[in-house]
Amino acid sequence: MSKSNLSAMVRTLRYEAAGIMSIELVPAPGRSTPFPAFTPGAHIDLHLPSGLVRSYSLVNAPGEANRYVLGILADPKSLGGSRFIHDNFRVGMTLDISEPRNHFALDETAEHTVLVAGGIGVTPILCMYRRLRALGRHVKLMYCARTAPQAAFVDELEALGGDITYHFDDQHDGKPASLAAFLSGQPAGTHAYCCGPGVMLDAFEAACADAGIANVHIERFAAAPDAPPPATSEGYVVTLAKSGKEIAVPAGATLLDTLLAAGIDAEHSCMEGVCGACETRVLDGCPDHRDSVLSASERAGNKVMMICVSGCKGGRLTLDL
Ligand code: FES
Repeated sequence: MSKSNLSAMVRTLRYEAAGIMSIELVPAPGRSTPFPAFTPGAHIDLHLPSGLVRSYSLVNAPGEANRYVLGILADPKSLGGSRFIHDNFRVGMTLDISEPRNHFALDETAEHTVLVAGGIGVTPILCMYRRLRALGRHVKLMYCARTAPQAAFVDELEALGGDITYHFDDQHDGKPASLAAFLSGQPAGTHAYCCGPGVMLDAFEAACADAGIANVHIERFAAAPDAPPPATSEGYVVTLAKSGKEIAVPAGATLLDTLLAAGIDAEHSCMEGVCGACETRVLDGCPDHRDSVLSASERAGNKVMMICVSGCKGGRLTLDL
């Protein structure tokens, strides 16, 4: 859970495409706390009445005061998150949300940017595209969906103009777009971003490597298919720097579960190493990174870790908790 939850009210629910609706959230009546500002690529957690916590990207313009807009796909494989939202959310209802977090941040200074969206992955990509167009940056976008009726926010994209390519699989005998063709020949220093299903992200990373694009940014909806399981095989000792407490993490337990069981109010949300809510600063020791959030350089730096799935390579860790 987040220590700094906000109370929000659903002001608008809107059909955006087949299986996709947008939700506009505003501060709950009587709450004086304004919504914090956010940056393109950011997401928030929704705390559902069932106790589930789910993360969704913000679609609207970062400069808009006091409202967050999300796009939510009714995932047929939903375990109670998106399906619950589609079936049960009503205008006027209130719920807790987290402050925005951003592990998919946009480099607004890039000379050239390429954006690729797959399905509901358009939500952070639209936010980025809008921002880059407002700044007058050079940007091109590819938006892929299975069919045109399943593509959300097309009107908003069209209103922004610019260099947008659409690819609807059903118009190409069910074949996905060629990301290699789209990404080839980009200028030096290009930043490339992709949000979509795992298979698309894997193809995107491979195409970027082939095209020589070094500045690659991706956001996953779920743990990477090749992500290792949570680190639970070794026991170790964690020192919490703020209190000086030492806590033994037994073999078979995750660090987060052990801290929560010890009464430590550690922030968390997805528990799968995807959302970034549990990011914790590492003051000493070597984490065993198992998440799908940190980049290779962030892992190598060992300055932060996701305590829900990551563990310890040595016998001791000191955390900024
Ligand atoms: S709780 Fe989501 S990354 Fe750890």
